[in-house]
Amino acid sequence: MNPQAEELNKIISEKSSVVYDLLSERGKNIFFPKKGILGQTAEAKGTKINATIGAAIEDDGSPMRLQAIAEKINMDPGLVFPYAPSFGRPDIRAKWKSMIYEKNTNLKGVELSLPVVTNALTHGISMAGYMFLDPGDEVIVPDLFWGNYNLTLANMYGASLVKFNLFKNGGFDLEAFEARLNEGGIGKKTMILNFPNNPSGYTPTIAEQKAIVKIIKDAADKGNKIVTFIDDAYFGLVYEEGIETESIFAPLCQLHENVLAVKIDGATKEDYVWGFRVGFMTYGIKGGDAELYGALESKTAGAIRGNISNAANISQSLVLVAFNSPEYATQKEAKYNIMKNRYDAVKNSLKTEKYKEYFNAIPYNSGYFMCIKLAEGLDGEKIRKVLIEKYGIGVISLGNILRIAYSAVAAGDVDEMFEGIYNACKDCK
Ligand SMILES: Cc1ncc(COP(=O)(O)O)c(C=O)c1O
Repeated sequence: MNPQAEELNKIISEKSSVVYDLLSERGKNIFFPKKGILGQTAEAKGTKINATIGAAIEDDGSPMRLQAIAEKINMDPGLVFPYAPSFGRPDIRAKWKSMIYEKNTNLKGVELSLPVVTNALTHGISMAGYMFLDPGDEVIVPDLFWGNYNLTLANMYGASLVKFNLFKNGGFDLEAFEARLNEGGIGKKTMILNFPNNPSGYTPTIAEQKAIVKIIKDAADKGNKIVTFIDDAYFGLVYEEGIETESIFAPLCQLHENVLAVKIDGATKEDYVWGFRVGFMTYGIKGGDAELYGALESKTAGAIRGNISNAANISQSLVLVAFNSPEYATQKEAKYNIMKNRYDAVKNSLKTEKYKEYFNAIPYNSGYFMCIKLAEGLDGEKIRKVLIEKYGIGVISLGNILRIAYSAVAAGDVDEMFEGIYNACKDCK
């Protein structure tokens, strides 16, 4: 093992043997090479003649750049063309951290890592797998989950996704979750929690979230060592009263010495910049301190360095400009209102009595999506095709469930969409 990895492992195991035990073999072996090209380049910063980094510099000291690109970008070239650090830009890391505290007031006074910048959430999930999953490890997921966990966690790291039933009596199936978590004896447990959930569009109620946290605490009290990946892709888009608006990361990262919380979030969906690829990974565990978090950040940055090297500087800079803009809050609220209107239009449309013959909504209250469950005997895939060919409507079929991204449908088109789905069901009966 590289001595730099050993150094980080020593810090981690002295600070928290649980976190050390949760690391995968890859996670144990990885380190950020302080003494490599990047380290030497950092030390040379500010020298008169700097011939370290593999980037080109104009004679005037600014980044070398093509006018055809530069003329399209109204930002300091220094924020656009050079590499960003593998950890991410320090300014956006600090800003995102302060925003996590603002959005989750229950985190007040809780020590967290600095967020490490990833190439958006997919990459964050993959890096979480890198750090914590060995082949054969089980990852607990609800039976409705974002399909890309298959590629990012199962295909990539050889983990197996084990499901629990998500809904019972119109709410979160706490019993199924508890049973799944406690299956297979005491040991390492990994789970991924994603609220608002893709595909269902469900976020637990305040009471349900408390109960989920209690179930995890009870399992930790029994001696399980638990790592929770928290996929907060759709954070902030809750449309009903009584639904939890803070991330489950907030209670989990201060819950128990046996529970490591890994928050994976980012600007993609929250700030409507899907193609920018700016995400973050933030660690929290009860009793965690700057040294422990520093070691985890270094390992994460090392994994990123060996994977994509670093995330795009221009994207980080643009997003940071928005976060610091005095208009940011107002502009976000305006977009939230559009999304909420669409949600309300869906709810309203689904009051139509006749639809119940062919489909019913499964619980939804937040995010970009909702799902309808088709009546017995209806084939989702067949209906999906008819919807495209005959009605000009696109939805996703997941067996006998159709996922509807109302985030992409104008409120004025929602009635027509459901009427089309109803008619397609009738056609396929
Ligand atoms: C639950 C969930 N997590 C993560 C992602 C991926 O986000 P990103 O585009 O930031 O990689 C998605 C995208 O559809 C998602 O639905």
